[in-house]
Amino acid sequence: MTSKITAPRGTRDLLPEDAPAWELAEAVARDLSRRYAFERIEIPLFERVELFARGLGESSDAVEKEMFRVSGAAGSEEERAEWALRPEPTAGIVRAFIEHGMHVRPGPLRVTMIGPMFRYDRPQAGRYRQFSQWDVEVIGDPGPAVDAELIELAHRFYATVGLTDAVAHVNSIGDAKCRPGYRQALIDYFGQHLDRLTEDSRRRLEVNPLRVLDDKQLVPELADGAPKSADHLCDECRAHFRAVLDILDALKVRYVVDHRLVRGLDYYTRTTFEFVIAGREGQQQALGGGGRYDGLAELLGGRPTPGIGFGIGLDRTVLAMEEQDVTLPPGAPLVAVVGTGDDQPDRLAVAGRLREAGLRVRPDGSGRKLGKQLEAAAKAGAGWAVIVGDELGDGMVGLKDLATGEQETVALDEVPPRISG
Ligand code: HAM
Repeated sequence: MTSKITAPRGTRDLLPEDAPAWELAEAVARDLSRRYAFERIEIPLFERVELFARGLGESSDAVEKEMFRVSGAAGSEEERAEWALRPEPTAGIVRAFIEHGMHVRPGPLRVTMIGPMFRYDRPQAGRYRQFSQWDVEVIGDPGPAVDAELIELAHRFYATVGLTDAVAHVNSIGDAKCRPGYRQALIDYFGQHLDRLTEDSRRRLEVNPLRVLDDKQLVPELADGAPKSADHLCDECRAHFRAVLDILDALKVRYVVDHRLVRGLDYYTRTTFEFVIAGREGQQQALGGGGRYDGLAELLGGRPTPGIGFGIGLDRTVLAMEEQDVTLPPGAPLVAVVGTGDDQPDRLAVAGRLREAGLRVRPDGSGRKLGKQLEAAAKAGAGWAVIVGDELGDGMVGLKDLATGEQETVALDEVPPRISG
């Protein structure tokens, strides 16, 4: 026997049994996107490596360790081109904003997308090499109201899919004016404790000291004693952060201020946030996260434009929904169309009529006995069977309730109201 081919490590197949939770998460994301007045945007699955290097930062894990590089066809001009599968969509969306001169539109721009992202990470539970995000971005609004609006939106998303105990962790990491002072404070502090830092952190301390706070292996006492960005904010950043928290209070959004929340991508300024299940902080990865990126457009060659957004990990959201056994809305009733003779064309015609009336219909195309067809229909989850026989000439069919076994003869036109009503 030839060997089986399996899915690449770190990828997942979405199987039919997982579909109801996925569909609910995606439907809620799309519905909220509409109600919060976001418009759809789509960007390529791959972009120039330079976009990510400049946007996310050379020292971010996503660029330094996890780039999924792609090249053009052998012999083509782009054979050695520096492309990578997108690890996240924000840099690509801001690239599109600049490329299409969207700053001239009446702003701010509010866009959203759902799609796969790729990071060549070490696969483990909840951490995949291909995963899906619901992303929203507001470009051209300095906040602070929009910061709170987005945190409230993410909060509403989790509550609507049934994850009522998702809580926002929020922080402000300052801007170009006050961040250098904070960085220096971290360098001074951690510099005195080099022997207690992991090798990764010692390296990060030189390139991006904020990321040391992100190290999951950071000794807790060391983390607790570390300088807090909130104590190093300039007056403008402090007022901005205070205003975000005040609005969250007014909206009654549950949040905690988390001084260690610095986020893994370098484009962030001011407000940062992440969502985790309350009481399980630290043990699990974030369900979603985002923040403000007021310097990103300029970094990518555009004019200075403030921005803020979030990415919600749909894989982790669905895993949490399954773990917490959230109640999913019942699917539409399934109707089987079965027949007594060699009448497959009639069965398909009847199925067509019922579908036109909006029903979810699965015809049996086999030549097996009626009893076997009914058995198979019940096993497939059908609640009803429409039985096609001789009475079809008079517009009549059999309608069998597969739960009770009751059966009667009704007009075909009667079937849809009987089943949906
Ligand atoms: P991020 O925190 O890197 O932010 O990713 C957002 C979410 O994507 C995470 O909270 C997590 O749920 C999910 N995620 C990330 N990596 C993986 C993985 N390897 N496997 C499964 N899920 C994963 C961003 O990507 C930013 N673009 C968010 C943003 C938008 N900031 C501003 N605008």
